[in-house]
Amino acid sequence: MSFEKALITGGNGNLGQLVATRLESQGVKVISFDLPGTENAETDARHAVVLGDMRDHDLLRQVFGEHEPQAIFHLASMLSGSSEADPLAAWDVNASASIALMRLALEYQCGPFFFASTLATYGPDLPSPLPEEAEQWPQNIYGVTKVAVERMGLYLKKKQNLDFRCLRFPFVLSPYAPSAALTAFASNAFKAAAKGEQFTFPVAPHTAMSTLFLDDVTRSIVEIAQADAKRLTRPAYNLHGYTVQTSDIVEKLRLRYQTFDCTYEPKEELIDLIGRWPSAMVSESAANDWDWSVKFDFDKTAEAMFALFETS
Ligand SMILES: NC(=O)c1ccc[n+]([C@@H]2O[C@H](COP(=O)([O-])OP(=O)(O)OC[C@H]3O[C@@H](n4cnc5c(N)ncnc54)[C@H](O)[C@@H]3O)[C@@H](O)[C@H]2O)c1
Repeated sequence: MSFEKALITGGNGNLGQLVATRLESQGVKVISFDLPGTENAETDARHAVVLGDMRDHDLLRQVFGEHEPQAIFHLASMLSGSSEADPLAAWDVNASASIALMRLALEYQCGPFFFASTLATYGPDLPSPLPEEAEQWPQNIYGVTKVAVERMGLYLKKKQNLDFRCLRFPFVLSPYAPSAALTAFASNAFKAAAKGEQFTFPVAPHTAMSTLFLDDVTRSIVEIAQADAKRLTRPAYNLHGYTVQTSDIVEKLRLRYQTFDCTYEPKEELIDLIGRWPSAMVSESAANDWDWSVKFDFDKTAEAMFALFETS
């Protein structure tokens, strides 16, 4: 283990809580940083919690000084929906504050610095499967802010040796999908079906999505942070699990819940984004450089989602 203390920004979020649990199971001490109001009695008891805003640079500096983290897992972010609703705030939180955090990591000599990026950093109408060298020209502000951080991460890695490590995630199927994500509908369909509720898909039946299950996502974050730096040939890796169409989800849900009732009302903003994203990505470098492999295919993902929703 290359680090014993880790700061997780966005530590009370969907991925943050589970990354904290994984690290803690390996004996890593976690400091969680997230907005006031996101407290969680269950996880808070296990680690240090600092409540504040990523834009509060003085507070973050205090966190580095007091807690001396050796690794950073930077997960705090405004998501796609809330970013589009307030693009200026998205720039401040996702881009400026992330760059300031990287500078603090350099100043306090900590690393690895993990950054969670996204398939939304790519533009529309690219080949599928998406080659690893594809250009990134995002059309939404969320993707723009993530590319900005990727570029600065690469710059600081080359010029100042920041141990920057980044993964670009596709759709994440998760029982805890945050509502501010435009891509949360696939996860929400599972929840509605388990509750016996009707569901309206905001995309068409043939919309195909590159997807990963939550468990693989959180494992990938910990694994890349612990990977041997000498083997990493890239600052950022694309991760693809499997391709699933909306109609595949409906079929799977109807096998489990025969009465599942749904309709399709494709929304312009989603057709423009998701409908034109690649539905598969090449992720060979992740397998070669840090032995990444996907454990959850769509069948296993669905089983895990059913189990989680039916017991909660
Ligand atoms: N889940 C996905 O589908 C997905 C896909 C690609 C990338 N990502 C990235 O992974 C990371 C974690 O995503 P998630 O699914 O856990 O989302 P989430 O919304 O559950 O977690 C993000 C956390 O960031 C916190 N946050 C937002 N603004 C903040 C601010 N100004 N100051 C401090 N904290 C702030 C939120 O309170 C939240 O707890 C994000 O960077 C996201 O962009 C997620």
